Amino acid sequence: MASIDIANIHKSYGIMPVLNDIDLNIADGEFVVLVGPSGCGKSTLLRMIAGLEHVTEGEIRIDGRRVNELAPKDRDIAMVFQSYALYPHMSVAGNMRYSLKIRRIAKEKIAELVTAAAAKLGLGPLMERRPKALSGGQRQRVAMGRAIVRQPKAFLFDEPLSNLDARLREQMRAEIKKLHKDLGATSIYVTHDQIEAMTLADRIVAMHGGVIQQVGSPLELYDKPANLFVAGFIGSPGMNFFEGRYDVSGGSASFALDGGIILPLNGTTNLGQGGAGTLGIRPEHVVLGAQGPDALMATVELVEPTGFGIIVHLKLGTVAFKAFTLDRRFLGMQGAIAVSLPEASLHFFDAAGQKV
Ligand SMILES: Nc1ncnc2c1ncn2[C@@H]1O[C@H](COP(=O)(O)OP(=O)(O)O)[C@@H](O)[C@H]1O
Ligand SMILES: [Mg+2]
Repeated sequence: MASIDIANIHKSYGIMPVLNDIDLNIADGEFVVLVGPSGCGKSTLLRMIAGLEHVTEGEIRIDGRRVNELAPKDRDIAMVFQSYALYPHMSVAGNMRYSLKIRRIAKEKIAELVTAAAAKLGLGPLMERRPKALSGGQRQRVAMGRAIVRQPKAFLFDEPLSNLDARLREQMRAEIKKLHKDLGATSIYVTHDQIEAMTLADRIVAMHGGVIQQVGSPLELYDKPANLFVAGFIGSPGMNFFEGRYDVSGGSASFALDGGIILPLNGTTNLGQGGAGTLGIRPEHVVLGAQGPDALMATVELVEPTGFGIIVHLKLGTVAFKAFTLDRRFLGMQGAIAVSLPEASLHFFDAAGQKV
């Protein structure tokens, strides 16, 4: 097992920069998830750690040792891809044995490692099958088995579950988490799926446009998003945003939403007087059927039952937003409804989109 340090990494393809000033220290045994939209540079970063991609600028260290110039095979890292990349002409056992055989490990030791990994992954009865006779989930398990037998210093996963259907993805996600608990190996996991990131990670690294936006525990990113990108990316249905202007004139604070609605505030924000900004609130924090002085009248546009809960599409003046509730009394809702946006649940962002 190993720590992985990424220091001031820049990466360009030709003149096109794809990663900018990436700085990240991953502790021994940690499970770190790189999450962000397609094209933000996640795979490129992972491939640089694996040694499959040249580092334009900066340094990568594994267990304190610079590896920039080290060949992939000498880095002692195992990578699991979305495409499985199994050898089609080899059995499951053959696929799992292969990397050990070329390392000239003793036969008995190979048998021991392969049997142990197969047992962990429930592959025992499938050992003589070829990949084409396996389901997608089973193939993904073989790909993981092949990584595990090598007892690498670290595991790198690049969207390993993206080819599986939703139910299987849910199941494999839990298996990967159990496996990590069991093996305790340093893992870096790339995904565009914020639910995978939230459920798997010790720490999430949210990326956008080749730049790290925020690093923190899943609940830190959920509760205290550092900017508009993270606020909008983490959580489903996504956070509501209202643009407007902060007003502290006349002894009381308020936020004037674009469209003329005034939201009175008791506390203060770091937006200066008259400062333009964005107010965010998660759908599950919008109170439906609010009473009292802070109630605002909203119109109901659409009601979406998900089974688990209800997503209500609303409008405050001309501004659309959503509420999420578990209360089925709101299923038949139409017309106007009083809502409140509790102050403790509000997030404020400045004109540059940074949390204030
Ligand atoms: N070999 C390459 N040559 C040129 N551009 C590339 C190459 N590989 C990736 N890119 C570009 O780099 C950016 C980041 O890609 P990638 O790391 O694959 O993103 P992600 O994995 O987050 O979807 C994208 O704009 C992509 O088009
Ligand atoms: Mg990718």
